[in-house]
Formats: sequence, structure tokens, C-alpha cells
Amino acid sequence: LQEEASQIIVEAPHLEALREAKVKYLGKKGEITGVLRGMGSLSAEERPVIGALANEVRATLSTLIDETEAKLEQAALESKLANENIDVTLPGKSIPLGSLHPINAIIDQMEDIFIGMGFHIAEGPEVETDYLNFEMLNLPKNHPARDMQDSFYISPETLLRTHTSSVQVRTMIDKKGEVPVRIICPGKVYRRDDDDATHSHQFTQIEGLVVDSGVSMGELHGVLLHFIKKLFGEDTEVRLRPSYFPFTEPSVEVDIFHPEKGWIEILGAGMVHPNVLEQAGYSAEKYTGFAFGIGVERIAILKYNIDDIRHFYQNDLRFTKQFKSV
Ligand code: PHE
Repeated sequence: LQEEASQIIVEAPHLEALREAKVKYLGKKGEITGVLRGMGSLSAEERPVIGALANEVRATLSTLIDETEAKLEQAALESKLANENIDVTLPGKSIPLGSLHPINAIIDQMEDIFIGMGFHIAEGPEVETDYLNFEMLNLPKNHPARDMQDSFYISPETLLRTHTSSVQVRTMIDKKGEVPVRIICPGKVYRRDDDDATHSHQFTQIEGLVVDSGVSMGELHGVLLHFIKKLFGEDTEVRLRPSYFPFTEPSVEVDIFHPEKGWIEILGAGMVHPNVLEQAGYSAEKYTGFAFGIGVERIAILKYNIDDIRHFYQNDLRFTKQFKSV
């Protein structure tokens, strides 16, 4: 029996055959097990002899099975390695690399410039309350200047924010009258507008707010000049025009000179209206502030000579890929 079994085990062509042999001889119903089970029917003299013999055979076969198993496994591994040889000379698959959307890329650049001037970044929700988007900014219900920002209302009291000024209000409320406030608020905003090459019902803003004691129009001018020159180059000509916003007084609009297009407006700004400060919990006696709002698409259109604002939203890869290095 031992000889027959040994031969079958050693010659097992693969692991499966070896497993079968193991069951055949050593399994619960196997032949050796059968001998050991049948010991009860043997005479008292035979029992120890046969018992010892059967145990010895079992031990021998079991060692043999283990050794063969190790050999077969090794052989299987070697053949697998041989077959899976990688041909390093084959050309690789190229994985297309994405890039930042030009709007995000330019937001990054603008954020860097303002962070360099000590600003922090603040964000808020795109669905906003009428209270934070308008009322807290000196724009009570029925104020005619609400028409400047034709809005998408979701309910009588909620709307898609028309500017990120609501984030400035949120920040002031959170800070409970503490200074300094020095933030920029990047994000998407929405206004009812018929889409064409220069208008879009959805666009991106970066608004800024500074509140502290002794903040002046001169500082506002300096911050904006620095920002514009960093972004468009040191020689850029800048002009401030008086303007009107309900939440700032005095208010200005800022133009830059474009060699082909002439003077182009890029942002609105002004000294924070005392009503806005007081409503948000800041003493207008002690503190002053300035705010500005920049249209990001406008900036990108000027900086990269883009002819249609709709390119930013159509997700045509031929357009977006041109900004890989930006
Ligand atoms: N919130 C204004 C707008 O979206 C921009 C602005 C911000 C103007 C701050 C002045 C001061 O049109």
C-alpha cells in the first residue's frame, strides 16, 4: 500500500491530483484511516503491531505529500512567471491628463495675489436668503436698485445668490463685531440675463471686504492697483470712475485700458455703507471698511483674449485644453 501510494503521490502531475491522492489514502474515508478504524476487530497481539505500522505509513505518506505539494507549487509559480513576462519594449498606454478649468486657474492666481496682501478666503452657499443677499446690504424689499441684479428666486425668501457679498455679511455676523475683517469670497453667482457672447445667467465673482479702524479709500485704491498690476502687468493703465452701489458710499467702478478694446470695466468697489456695518454688528463710529466685487470671467476674457463668455460653460475640450499651462 505504501509503495503504491508513494508512487501516485510523487507522480502527481498537478496539485489537484495530489489532493485527490491525499483524500484517497489519508482522508476520513481513506485507506490508511480504514486500517486504523478496523483495529477493533484485531486480536490483542496484532493490534500494537498493525497500529504502529499503519501510523508509520501515514506519517511517511503525509511527509511525502507535503514535499510534493511544495514542489508543485514552486513549479506552478515558475511557469506563471515565465508566461507573464512583461515586454518592456512595448509602447505604453498614454493616460490623458486633465487640467484646471481656465476659470479655476485664474481664481487660483487671483487668490494668491490677495493672500499675499493678508486676505483670507471665505465661502458660502449658492442658495441664499433674501435677507443676506439683499436686506443686510442696504437693499430692502422694493428697493429700485434690486433691479440691477435681476434674480432667480426659489421661494419668496430664498434665491440663487446674485453676488458673493452675502458671504461678506455672513463673515461679519460670525465675527460679532471683531476686527480686522480681511476676506475675499470667490464663488458662482446667478442673475437673470439672456445669454450671449458677453452675458451669462451664471458667472463667477471674487468679492473682497476689509473692516478695521482707519480703513480708507486710499488703501482700497492701493489694494486694487496692486492686484491689477500683478495680474495684467506693471504698465496697465487703471481708472476709477464714480458710481453707485446701495452697499457702498462713495462707490467707484474700475476700468483698465485694453489696447484694442479701450477702457473696460473690470470691477465695482467702494467704502462700506455705514448702514451695512451697523446692521452686521459693527460700530460705524469706530470702524470703516471697503469692499470690491470682481467678475472673474471678465478678467479671463481680457487676459486671454476670449471672444465669447459661453466658451467657459460649453466644456469643449478644444477650448479648455488651451489653458493647460495657465
Ligand atoms: N456686489 C456688487 C455686484 O455684484 C459688486 C460690488 C461689491 C460693488 C462690493 C461694490 C462693492 O455687482
